Parts: sequence; structure tokens; C-alpha cells
Amino acid sequence: MINTGKNREHWANRAGFILAAAGSAIGLGNIWRFPYMTGEHGGAAFMLLYLLAILLLGYPLIVTEIVLGRASQRDPVGVFKVLAPNTPWWLVGALGVFTGFVILSYYAVVAGWSLAYIYKVVIATSNPGIDHASIFKNHISGVWEPIIWQAVFMIMTVGIIAAGVVKGIQRWSTILMPILFVLLVILIIRAITLPGAEEGLAYYLKPDFSKVTGRTLLAALAQAFFSLSLGMGALITYGSYLNEKDEIPASAAWVAGLDTGVALLAGFALFPAIFALGFKPGAGPGLAFITLPAVFAQMPLGTIFGVLFFFLLGIAALTSAISLLEVVTAWLIDEKGWSRRKAAACMGVVIFIVGLPATLGYSVWKDFSFPGLNTDLLDTYDWFANSLFLPVGGFFMAVFTGYAWGIKHAVHEVNKGHKAFAVGTWWTLLIRYFVPVMIFFILAIGIYDTFVK
Ligand code: PFF
Repeated sequence: MINTGKNREHWANRAGFILAAAGSAIGLGNIWRFPYMTGEHGGAAFMLLYLLAILLLGYPLIVTEIVLGRASQRDPVGVFKVLAPNTPWWLVGALGVFTGFVILSYYAVVAGWSLAYIYKVVIATSNPGIDHASIFKNHISGVWEPIIWQAVFMIMTVGIIAAGVVKGIQRWSTILMPILFVLLVILIIRAITLPGAEEGLAYYLKPDFSKVTGRTLLAALAQAFFSLSLGMGALITYGSYLNEKDEIPASAAWVAGLDTGVALLAGFALFPAIFALGFKPGAGPGLAFITLPAVFAQMPLGTIFGVLFFFLLGIAALTSAISLLEVVTAWLIDEKGWSRRKAAACMGVVIFIVGLPATLGYSVWKDFSFPGLNTDLLDTYDWFANSLFLPVGGFFMAVFTGYAWGIKHAVHEVNKGHKAFAVGTWWTLLIRYFVPVMIFFILAIGIYDTFVK
């Protein structure tokens, strides 16, 4: 990023933006959340619904968020103050900042598991016959150990945001993310050549729509939003560091494509192994942490690959976490005049504290469950943030862009600086009608299925 005359930092070049946005998108959502959600919601049918959600709702909204940020050059709350002054629209941005806060609070817990697994995987892969599920359960119910790793992860996130993003994380991700990609491909090769892998492939690739309910639809929508970092202003914030000369439509397609590709690959690494090694696809949040070490244990040099994998997963989580903290930080800098360091540090501490119940939900508070959801505390945070706040945020961003700001204006703004392709009537129709109507409908039946039925 460089300083412009207007005093706001901007990405140094187009690749910088795409990499940062893809770094935000690609994270635990792809490798940890996507497989266990697919496993809990019946496999291939869920995967297809997720792909449709990415294409028809996700992509148009990525474009929307980026253009809102670029046109206003402000944080998610400031966007609405600039584009619709003296209206209550800023509340949409406020919901986004709040959601970023909630997501990061439990994201750091799961990222902490990943950091701990950099060494736990050594134990898991070097003792034949070990019970992988109990290693994971013992870890998460261990109170202090997960809390310490959660704290370490928050400190790393705060450190990067306080220092500014480009020199550290952007350079690192450019080198490290391709290695994660290669490692996933190696894992897939091992997984699909295990005896009994076909059953898992069939589960992942042959849809059974009879199992689809309102809950499934909402879960697929939530997964698409979470994975694309959509609905809470992360992309507004990153878009606000773009110039009018920068391209939006094709960059947005790159981000969506890379993110979806990594999620699909993670599914290919996990499902064949789950069935071949006798695990259950519906195992919940522990799925990747239980299954992948078991696959590493079946590989030559598995321990080394395992250590490398969880290290890279930690990096992927970090490039997402910084985008979550950047939303909250940008809001305090732009709207409240705080310094970057103070904003990042204070919010880091508060977010860590808010995340403690999510960790403790696996030990001291394991009996708590929210009526209707019947899940642990971490999943409860996850449900409210991803199944409720993100879609609500996306809905209002579409309505704002399609009606309040004005769709003609928006199209004109999006297409400024475009090179590969421009948006046209199709985008207008999606943002004005399809996106809001579908989100509304899916939210309504999803909530009905979850709490009323
Ligand atoms: N997209 C991230 C992931 O898939 O892990 C999570 C995330 C980051 C969600 C940033 C929302 C966000 F604003």
C-alpha cells in the first residue's frame, strides 16, 4: 500500500489487492468449515447449493462490496455516511463491524487449534493405532492450552494490523499460499488412493436432494458468505484501498474462483479419507483435525507433511483474521479518529475476551446449548454470525446499492477502470431482484426450520 494525496493508503498494484482479498477469503472456512458443513448436511447436494450460492449471490455481492468501498474511500460505517448522509443506512455498516468482531472472537479459537496441531500432529502421526478423535477431544477440552494458542494467534493478528499489511503478510502469503495448494493436492492423491475411497467420492459427488431442508439452504448460503468474507464489510474495507483506475469485475471473479477452488480441493482431500478410514462425515467442527492427521499417518514422511500443513493452515487463517480485525480497526480510525496501533491493540484484547466462552464451551461450559441450535458455544457464535448477520448484511447492501444509492450510478462506478469485462444488465437484475429476494426467502425458511419446526 502507498499513501496517496488523500492520505489513505492504497494497494500498490492489482495483484496486491487480489492477493489480499483472496487471502481474506481463503482460510479456515475452506479447509475446516466447508468439509464439516458438507458432512453435516448430507454431502454433494450441499456442495452444489454452495456453488450456486457463490455464483448467483456471492459474486454479485463481492462486486457490490468492493465498489461501495472504492466509491466512498471509507470504512463500512463511513461508506453509508458518505453515500447516504443523514440516513440510518450506516447501521448496516455497524452490523458489519459487530459481525467482524464476533467472527474473529471464535475464529481465533479454531486458528489456535491449528497452531497447536503443528506439534500435536507429530504425536498423531508417529504412534500407529492411536485414536485421532480422542487426541482432538483432549486438546479442545484442555482449558489452558487452547486459550494460550488463541492468545498467541490474536497477538500475531494484532501485530500485523498494527504494523500495516503490505510488507509482512502480503509478501508472506504470496510465497506460502501456493505451498498450501500443492500440499492439498498431495493430500488428495493420498486420500483417493486409500482402499475404500470410492464411497467418500460418491458421497461428495452424487447429490441426494431428498435430504435438502430449509436448514440446508441456509447453511449453504452461510458457508458461501463466510468463505467469501462477504456481508460484513471486509471487502468494503479492502475495496476502499483501491483507486478508480483499478479493475473490479475481473478481480472479483479471481477472488471467488480461487476461494471456491481451495474449498473444493479440501473436500477431495477429506471425504475419500473419511470413508476409507472409518470416520463419520457428520463429526462436526473436529472433522479436519481428526481426519487429516489420520491421512498423514498413512503417508511416507507424513509427520513432516503434517507439520507443514498445519503451519500453512495457520498462515491461511492469519490472512483471513487480519481482514476481520482490519474492519474493526478501519472503523475506529476513520470514524473515531483512533490511531492504528491503539485501535488494533484494544480491539485485540476485547475480541480475545469475547472469544473465551467459545473455547470454554468445550470444557467448563460444555453443557450450555442455545435453544433450537443444540450445538456447542463456538458453533452458536458461528451460527449467529454466519447464518444470520452475514446474510442480513448482504441483503441490505444489495438493497442499498440497487435502490437507495441507485443502480445506474453503481454500474457506472463498478465499470470505471474495468479491463477484462464490465458488468451490465445481468448484474443489475441480480442485485435489485434476485439477490435480495433469495436471501430473504432462504433466511425465512432457514430460521423457521431451525427454531419453529
Ligand atoms: N473467509 C474466511 C475463511 O473462509 O476462513 C473467514 C472470514 C474472513 C469471514 C473475513 C468474514 C470475513 F470478513
